[in-house]
Amino acid sequence: MVELNLCCYRNNHLENSWDIDTYIAQGGYQVWKKVLAGDLSPQEIIDEVKTSNLRGRGGAGFPTGLKWSFMNRQAPGPKYIVCNSDESEPGTFKDRDIMRYNPHQLIEGMMIAGYVIGANTGYNYIRGEFWEPYERFTGAVMQARKAGLLGKDILDSGFDFDLHTHQGAGAYICGEETALIESLEGKKGQPRFKPPFPASYGVYGRPTTINNTETLASIPMILAKGGDWFAKLGVPNAGGTKLFSMSGHIEKPGNFEIPLGTPFKDLLELAGGVWKGRELKAVIPGGSSTALLPADKALAMTMDYDSIAKAGSFLGAGSVIIMDDQTDMVKALERLTWFYYDESCGQCTPCREGTGWMYRVVHRIRQGKGRPEDLETLKDVSGKIMGRVICGLGDAAAIPVTSFLQHFEHEFRHYIDHGCSIFDRA
Ligand SMILES: Cc1cc2nc3c(=O)[nH]c(=O)nc-3n(C[C@H](O)[C@H](O)[C@H](O)COP(=O)(O)O)c2cc1C
Ligand code: SF4
Repeated sequence: MVELNLCCYRNNHLENSWDIDTYIAQGGYQVWKKVLAGDLSPQEIIDEVKTSNLRGRGGAGFPTGLKWSFMNRQAPGPKYIVCNSDESEPGTFKDRDIMRYNPHQLIEGMMIAGYVIGANTGYNYIRGEFWEPYERFTGAVMQARKAGLLGKDILDSGFDFDLHTHQGAGAYICGEETALIESLEGKKGQPRFKPPFPASYGVYGRPTTINNTETLASIPMILAKGGDWFAKLGVPNAGGTKLFSMSGHIEKPGNFEIPLGTPFKDLLELAGGVWKGRELKAVIPGGSSTALLPADKALAMTMDYDSIAKAGSFLGAGSVIIMDDQTDMVKALERLTWFYYDESCGQCTPCREGTGWMYRVVHRIRQGKGRPEDLETLKDVSGKIMGRVICGLGDAAAIPVTSFLQHFEHEFRHYIDHGCSIFDRA
């Protein structure tokens, strides 16, 4: 029996779970009060987060305690904590429900993170299309301010901290941390070269820590129950629970918070199994930028970083896209290549031009006009994007192409040879 909702979604079932009174009744803001009373030093908090084995939930899985330790909290001048709630990758919709149903836990996590890194200002960058989550989060910030938990000299501690929300305008690239910073500063959302990294040159050129919504919302529970508690929920290389967004050909699509290391089969069962009683054909385990896996590999893995990597993909943001046995892989890839073509910011030639090439070639194959050399072209173009661009979007665009061809090349060949899908009667 898989235990559900132990951390970020622990309050979601409660009536008015987004209200400050509900959160306080569940022990909310106790850790924040302890921090303000001086009972937990920044170093003690970092140590506890390191013990918890929390890895960033935004996609890359970087250890959070280590990231926080890169910030020089003694550096003079302003520093910033930024929460990345852009959540725009196909398949991802987990952070939305933290802001809708448990916004105060995110606020508490952001305040604690701000305290640890020596920041007096925090920003939550929220996906432009997320209106209800934006309203819930903003409403919760107002409640926290009214309750004296945010603002100047909070609870007579001498510590000032305030939070602001910023709505994006619908660009996937603004989830990339440096593009997000540019956008937050009011500029065009295009990634910066790294280094320098945000820890030394972030918002307005000041030291900045950026974390994902789920990462920050996990912090109050880690400090309330202990890093060991969190670590033991997961597996040796990754502690805690993880939010998985289940979408695609599934009976009960939605978000599921489960311990890391849970077998994929169990997660599939929790989501009601493949819809219409069909067989599983393939799975994208971590969002559209992670490699597609065929059913046999997916069914043998557990939902954690190491097991998914061994199967040939990545846990990413935990966005699981299920494909049934009637899925046309050429059509599916056509849709994905369009997404990346549409979302490339255009700064780097290999990404700007390559995403367009990949879409056009897959599109003509799907139209039944494919040429014998098309598969080589796709492999060549995707290989020339990888590792030759400024940000992760380029690789993210190439990975679906390489993985679809690795596992389902015969479907593309069928289109090229017969002008139609393997499902069509020629
Ligand atoms: C194209 C692209 C889009 C991204 N979108 C998001 C996003 O929506 N949310 C997010 O948290 N991280 C996103 N990331 C990752 C961020 O750059 C960054 O690594 C993350 O916010 C760090 O938080 P974490 O350490 O808590 O995971 C994206 C990265 C790329 C390359
Ligand atoms: S890789 Fe693509 S999205 Fe990223 S900076 Fe270059 S052109 Fe823009």
